[in-house]
Amino acid sequence: MKSFKLLPLALLLFSICSSAQVRVAVHESETGPVIPKEIYGQFSEHLGRCIYDGIWVGPESAIPNVNGYRKDVLEALQALKVPVLRWPGGCFADEYHWQDGIGPRESRPRMINSNWGGTLEDNSFGTHEFLNLCELLGTEPYISGNVGSGSVEELAKWVEYMTAKGGTTAEQRAANGRTEPWKVKYIGIGNESWGCGGNMTPEFYSDLYRRYATYCRDFDGNHLYKVASGASDYDYNWTKVLMEKVGGRADAVSLHYYTITDWNHKGSATDFTDGEYYDIIAKSLEIEEVLRNHEIIMDTYDPERKIDLLLDEWGTWFDVEPGTNPGHLFQQNTMRDALVAALSLNIFNKHTARLKMANIAQIVNVLQSMVLTSGERMLLTPTYHVFRMFNGHQDAEAVPVTFTCDTLQAPSGRLYPTLSVSASRQKDGALLITLANPCLDKEQKITLDLDARRPKTVSGEILHDADIRAHNTFDNPGKVAPRVFRSCKISGRSVTLTLPPASVVAITVL
Ligand code: AHR
Repeated sequence: MKSFKLLPLALLLFSICSSAQVRVAVHESETGPVIPKEIYGQFSEHLGRCIYDGIWVGPESAIPNVNGYRKDVLEALQALKVPVLRWPGGCFADEYHWQDGIGPRESRPRMINSNWGGTLEDNSFGTHEFLNLCELLGTEPYISGNVGSGSVEELAKWVEYMTAKGGTTAEQRAANGRTEPWKVKYIGIGNESWGCGGNMTPEFYSDLYRRYATYCRDFDGNHLYKVASGASDYDYNWTKVLMEKVGGRADAVSLHYYTITDWNHKGSATDFTDGEYYDIIAKSLEIEEVLRNHEIIMDTYDPERKIDLLLDEWGTWFDVEPGTNPGHLFQQNTMRDALVAALSLNIFNKHTARLKMANIAQIVNVLQSMVLTSGERMLLTPTYHVFRMFNGHQDAEAVPVTFTCDTLQAPSGRLYPTLSVSASRQKDGALLITLANPCLDKEQKITLDLDARRPKTVSGEILHDADIRAHNTFDNPGKVAPRVFRSCKISGRSVTLTLPPASVVAITVL
């Protein structure tokens, strides 16, 4: 598939953005593969206030709820059309014992959440609460199994409990209020097994994968899709060993990539310099190179692309908000996060020959969230709005785009292109084009040249604020929100528009 071309000699300093004119060729006649809806997936972990307070308040709560799920968050997530939700971790998954989270809530055991601040976990949100939530959201569950500290039998029985019609586990499930089994497709065999999931070597993990995966059975028409716990960022050897030793025993291998420029100084989510902004933008864009390198390794071992790549954790990771528990990873979300989300999603849309799922970390109150809560108040983040604006790409046919734009250099030395675009044709024939301009002081005049249609109507939405640090607060939850984008004009087979600095735009062409 074609993508953007960079001007090799245009290595300008980040500070000299001015204005630019770019022609984007939209090759609808070369429509590519379907963009799996799972690219727009989410991740929820028992970490800080993601589950408790964020999703689950319990049926007795004064906060309005539907069977214990907070109503405002439920409705926001329903509107977002979440295609897949990963749970219960993360690092938490490798210390989670599912039997502790079933049966009467008042008698469930309590555990210390050692990974995340030593918070007491009362297990009131367990398998039933999660899978019922997925049904309410119309979302595919993605269970992350405990390989680090659990047993083969424990994971095998969990699969049986969730998906089998008969047997003792099914009777137990029925006694706990659910007669019919759930459908569970995605199962992760461990998480970050090179780190919090057991500090293993890839060779040792590969053997364990084979053993654990063997006993995760398909019951009664439920077909599991098994995910081998994959590499972090630039650990290409991990992917290589997995491909050699696990190979076709897995449906997919995973990958984690966080936008962090310095693990020791992550920086504030809201208070940053322009230079720090460009460093984050450039680091987030580096995901494309990382994806490509893992894809090349996978292509060597699996040229027919039978094994998928799942980016099942990604997103920004900043310092926690002042005064909050450092182990709870609660961060604000600005227009900078919106740009990172848009640039990343535009990249993912072009890698779907191998990349079949991506799960941003995390859905509520943790890292680059969709939703933040405080007591009974809730707000939608700029990242939420980007996901909502890009929703039309879910299960649409990818449309290649090509263009030439400047490449600038961030203070870190990393390079970044000054424009990001992807396109798809939706089932109703509409063309969705999503664009992002990461430059803080350069507007971009864009001409979209359409090769296969003469547009009749064009409409759009824009997410933009003159201040890149702008974010929504509980007192002003609507500060950053999409508005109607009026700059689009049709001219023959082309559409022209002007992208303001630091903006995200989605346009629909009919
Ligand atoms: O998302 C937070 C943590 O980041 C996850 O628990 C872990 O898998 C990763 O290191």
